[in-house]
Amino acid sequence: MDTSTTRAFFPSMERINTRDHYLKIKKYMSAKSGVIYHRGGMTLTRDDTDVELDFRQESNFLYLSGVEAAGFHIVVVLENDTIYLIRPDRPKVEQLWKGIPEPDAALMKKYNVDHILLDTEVKDFLKELKPQIIFTLDSTNMDYNYIPVEYENRIDRTQLKNAIHEARLTKFPWEVTLLRYAAHISSYAHMSLMSYCGEKYRQKQVINEAELEAKFRWVCGKNGLSRQCYIPIIASGSRAAVLHYTDNDKSIPSHQHALVLVDAGGEYRCYGSDVTRTFPASTKFSDEAITIYNIVLKAQKAVLSRLKPGVFWKDMHDLVVRILCHELVELGLLIGNETELLQLGVYRAFYFHGTGHSVGLDCHDVGGKEISILDSTRKGSSLLLLQRPLDENMVITVEPGLYFNDVSIDLWTKDPAYKPYFNMDKVNQYRVVGGVRIEDTVLVTRDGIENFTVVPKEVHDIEALMQQ
Ligand code: GLY
Ligand code: MN
Ligand code: MN
Repeated sequence: MDTSTTRAFFPSMERINTRDHYLKIKKYMSAKSGVIYHRGGMTLTRDDTDVELDFRQESNFLYLSGVEAAGFHIVVVLENDTIYLIRPDRPKVEQLWKGIPEPDAALMKKYNVDHILLDTEVKDFLKELKPQIIFTLDSTNMDYNYIPVEYENRIDRTQLKNAIHEARLTKFPWEVTLLRYAAHISSYAHMSLMSYCGEKYRQKQVINEAELEAKFRWVCGKNGLSRQCYIPIIASGSRAAVLHYTDNDKSIPSHQHALVLVDAGGEYRCYGSDVTRTFPASTKFSDEAITIYNIVLKAQKAVLSRLKPGVFWKDMHDLVVRILCHELVELGLLIGNETELLQLGVYRAFYFHGTGHSVGLDCHDVGGKEISILDSTRKGSSLLLLQRPLDENMVITVEPGLYFNDVSIDLWTKDPAYKPYFNMDKVNQYRVVGGVRIEDTVLVTRDGIENFTVVPKEVHDIEALMQQ
């Protein structure tokens, strides 16, 4: 597998056109006058020290400005679409430690803005501008070092947020390029973990989840994805059933049923990816593991083959649970009439998350979603659901799974109301599998999808890659 991409092939930053982002946002705002003000992220330090924490730009600010560095602000005048980028003042003494800042002319060209101001000037600038209304976001800290305090009653925190969230839901071509690249490189990183595990298994070496996390980050970093979109989940054995397991510090068991579930995606220029693959620690899936794996794969393929503009996400989730429920009954793990099992939600003992979500500048990206509580009992869980039909240029994940999670199994099977629906012999037979999730990041196109995720997912392809 080729993970040797060099920087020369990286998508160029010039493709991001934040002015187009702003114009799209403006289209979704009813106000046509006033100013947009938003402050980007600031550098933070570890408690009681001067050690800087890793900085990652706040996503809405990145969307508005394209600036990945800390300490910037933006002001846009809605009446005439003039964009002011406000950079941090960096006195000479600070330059000794942090270097000379980019010249204003370079910043203007790089970010396609009309003017550059210093943060020390922003308050007086806004005073002079006398906006009737300032549209901003909750994440902007209104400490009145920057916003004149007399404008306190002119601040609107709703309209801009709704408009940005709407704008971020569908992607421009340059965003698609960055997201595709992030998913491709993440795919190579996943493949490299499969190969590595296979190699170490043949050498009879016990490996640790931490090694796989390090290798994943290395392949991403080598190819320009210096940050992860979320903390990688490297979950082996029974931990594969823990949805957001991030300890990543246990030895990988090598028994015949053991699986490794890797849910990890790098981000490029803050544009992310979200990919999960599950593979056998011993390079060969056990019969039980194949059975569970292929049920999940069947559900994922069913969704992937139906996705196109106009499709409702809820219908896709319902399709997944129908397939999972049917297959669990066929397997003898669930007992009863399928319609009744679906109505009661008994399948949730093994599938307790949503089938996918929007991806962009964030893993669980903003826009078009509502949190729906599945039920009000203790066995309910929340789902992020896209509440509207899919549209061209949305980027979403498709991520069904089946999990033998001890907590979940106990919750359901020890409840007298649900106990009769479970065949515990079968549950215990398959419990050794731990968990399986298969997750792709895909682009919705005019008449279907482009799958950005290029990691093998058929049982024989994974085994072949691991055994090479
Ligand atoms: N990586 C988190 C998720 O799949 O939603
Ligand atoms: Mn996901
Ligand atoms: Mn994921």
